[in-house]
Amino acid sequence: MPATILVGAQWGDEGKGRVADWLAKNAKMVARYAGGDNAGHTVYVGDAVFKLHLIPSGILHEQVTCVLGNGMVINPVSLVREIDELQAAGVAITPERLSLSNNAHLITPGHLALDAAAERARGAGAIGTTLRGIGPAYTDKTDRRGLRAGEMRSIEVFADRLYEHLEAANTKLVQMYGDPVDPQMSTEAYIEAAARLRPYIQDTALQINRALKDNQRVLCEGAQGTMLDVDHGDYPYVTSSSPTAGGALTGLGFGPRYVDRVVGVTKAFSTRVGAGPMPTELDGELANQLRGTGENFWDEFGTTTGRPRRVGYLDGVMLRYATQINGFSEVVLTKLDVLSGFDELPIAIGYDLNGKTLDFPPPTLAERARVQPIYRRYPGWTEDISRVRRWADLPETTRAYIDAIASVCGTPINTVSVGPERDQLVHRWVEQRTDE
Ligand code: GDP
Ligand code: IMO
Ligand code: MG
Repeated sequence: MPATILVGAQWGDEGKGRVADWLAKNAKMVARYAGGDNAGHTVYVGDAVFKLHLIPSGILHEQVTCVLGNGMVINPVSLVREIDELQAAGVAITPERLSLSNNAHLITPGHLALDAAAERARGAGAIGTTLRGIGPAYTDKTDRRGLRAGEMRSIEVFADRLYEHLEAANTKLVQMYGDPVDPQMSTEAYIEAAARLRPYIQDTALQINRALKDNQRVLCEGAQGTMLDVDHGDYPYVTSSSPTAGGALTGLGFGPRYVDRVVGVTKAFSTRVGAGPMPTELDGELANQLRGTGENFWDEFGTTTGRPRRVGYLDGVMLRYATQINGFSEVVLTKLDVLSGFDELPIAIGYDLNGKTLDFPPPTLAERARVQPIYRRYPGWTEDISRVRRWADLPETTRAYIDAIASVCGTPINTVSVGPERDQLVHRWVEQRTDE
């Protein structure tokens, strides 16, 4: 049974966690292929709310085994903390259920300090990173100096390597006016974490290929989003990995012939955390209405900083682009419930750049910052749709809005989310199991 790849179609936080939780029902294995604990995937299970950073959302399904793939960057201390938190919440985590790729790179205290120093040095041009050390860890990977999870198998060798690495990081930090890290102090927690993680380290590519050959469904859970991709996003206002569908193949180590489904996830409007162009960005009253007041868990405020997220109308041009880059076979729309009460719902169907109409984002960042969205306006609805469970019970205007989005990106939308809870999904067709 082949692989499904799940990808964020926008700038992250599209609701991938809740959609992965739905797709994981039919999966045997769920694997993360890119990013690290810059991700935060929220899943509601009954009264419990899980915020997963490194461990795939599939861990909440008993029949699923989870993989942290080679394309990820792992902070060992964060991973141990997440394992402990999940275990305390009653989720069984054992090396039989969770494996960490030998080849995944490690995030060290040096990377954390370098991320902060680089952001300070960028001044007004700061990217607004999550300060989790992601960029510096991927830099060391491509520079062929990184530490990999497999090295944690031998604690002595690991301790030496970590020490050397921290000294090298300090040389860079001093050049960048950052505070050096104390190699002695910072290694302790990492060595302890390494000892805890040792049993989880595996050849995960082998594991995945065995599962695929065995006809088991593997769900590849993307993190971040298409517009944050280091190649295809708004460079340099991006993350340092490949969250797009192609990243799943290199980030896990299996071939494209197994992939039969690529699911894009988009909110029914746009949000962005951090700097960079956002053509449909709104401010004022409309922005407040989309963002929410902060009283709901899902309102658009950063979970760690409490900072309001940037919000805007749905950008159909970006969605069309994301569909092209990832080859979505379908798109799932989330947070549709948030749009109740808008008189009209504009969707950007093109951009105007100096009098020329564009169907796709222009190549340069300077142009992306200047484009004016060309909107097509759709009537809104006033009904609370969060209790709707059948497609036919959605207001006609809601269905028209969904169909408009499907036609802008040229991809079917057969599933929409009308709330964060497990059962708040509405399917166009009666749901069919995809395997077994
Ligand atoms: P991810 O990073 O793509 O997994 O998304 P996040 O979990 O960071 O952010 C999505 C937020 O929206 C979370 O708080 C979810 O609980 C919430 N959410 C997801 N789908 C819906 C929905 O359909 N309606 C509402 N109101 N909230 C949703
Ligand atoms: P999930 O998986 C939203 C953004 C940061 C910043 C840029 C670079 O929850 O959707 P980084 O720390 O990766 O170097 O930051 O990328 N970013 C995210 N935004 N959701 C995420 O993950 C993100 N991961 C990174 O805000 O703009
Ligand atoms: Mg998130």
